[in-house]
Amino acid sequence: MAMHQTLRQHREIVGTAKTSCRPAAVRRPARCTRLNVAAGGKVYLDPVQNECSAFAPATVANLGPGFDWMGCAVQGGGDTVVVKALPGRAGEVVIEAIKGDGGRLSLDPAKNCIGVAASETLKLLGGAVSCGVSLTLHKGLPLGSGMGSSAASAAAAAWAVNGLFGAPLAKDKLILAGLASEAAVSGYHADNVGPSLLGGFVLIRSCKPGEPVELLQLPFTAAEELHFVLVNPRFEAPTAEMRAVLPREVPMKSMINNCCQGGALVAGILRGDVRLIGESLDRDVIIEPVRGPLIPGMLAVKEAARAAGAYGCTISGAGPTAVAIVDDPAVGERVAAAMCEAFRSAGKLEVNTSQVVKLDTEGAKFV
Ligand code: HSE
Repeated sequence: MAMHQTLRQHREIVGTAKTSCRPAAVRRPARCTRLNVAAGGKVYLDPVQNECSAFAPATVANLGPGFDWMGCAVQGGGDTVVVKALPGRAGEVVIEAIKGDGGRLSLDPAKNCIGVAASETLKLLGGAVSCGVSLTLHKGLPLGSGMGSSAASAAAAAWAVNGLFGAPLAKDKLILAGLASEAAVSGYHADNVGPSLLGGFVLIRSCKPGEPVELLQLPFTAAEELHFVLVNPRFEAPTAEMRAVLPREVPMKSMINNCCQGGALVAGILRGDVRLIGESLDRDVIIEPVRGPLIPGMLAVKEAARAAGAYGCTISGAGPTAVAIVDDPAVGERVAAAMCEAFRSAGKLEVNTSQVVKLDTEGAKFV
């Protein structure tokens, strides 16, 4: 078996289915957007600075029964985008460089999530811009990991382009830019890009193409206790493929179960009840039973996490990362070790990263 197995290879086998430019100082863009009226009366939007950098965090979306409607941002990693103004090239979007992707991502802005997010942000600014933008992406997250890698890139790009023009758009307005980007690479879902932009827990109340997006940021008071154990094995599970395997219809019993568990998940968040959050995300009977068998060792990983003291465990995003919930970092380390061992022994997979992290409450930020 290859060290870096892919979903397709696994399905054949089982016969189924920052380098931040400015790491130290936090730069904030100037407050005002400058308008420039050219001869003929056309109003142009000018950048307020030559360069702006933004970071956006990783996310865990779905959280079990919250498929496509619940996600949260987590500390410990993310992507950074540096945007530079291109004078005299109004509206143009160029990807100058991508670092940390092993050369796998396209530099064509129409085919890359940062290019799409940047173009959409320029449109959302609401006026013709007087310059183009050149983008450099520093990938901090592994591709196709289930930790919202593409959404973090899109959120960082949207926030950085917005910042170049003085940040006239609020984060919730930029969701549309992130969604266009997600739709281009994986599917129209806001449960990664919402929390990557806004931080914390975000409930996606409504998200249909062509309709307004409605997000609810949920207050959470137990950010010091809640810990996520994230174990990312060397296996690729592209989101588009992991979405394609899902059922179009579900039995009534499953729907009732997932509504109960989804409701309990929201109650757990609002009550700051870490145990309830963990137990609820553990009990998805619609998505996880279909995707789990496609990720080698996932069932054993879930059992190992619970046996080692986690309140619950499920697939993070579309996988292959597994996420477990604990309220004590020391327990988290034991759970992480047990999950890694289960991926190795039951799944025959090497582990890329294993971490115990807290909730990120800030979302995208200028760096
Ligand atoms: N809700 C999405 C899915 C998240 O599970 O397909 C992908 O990270």
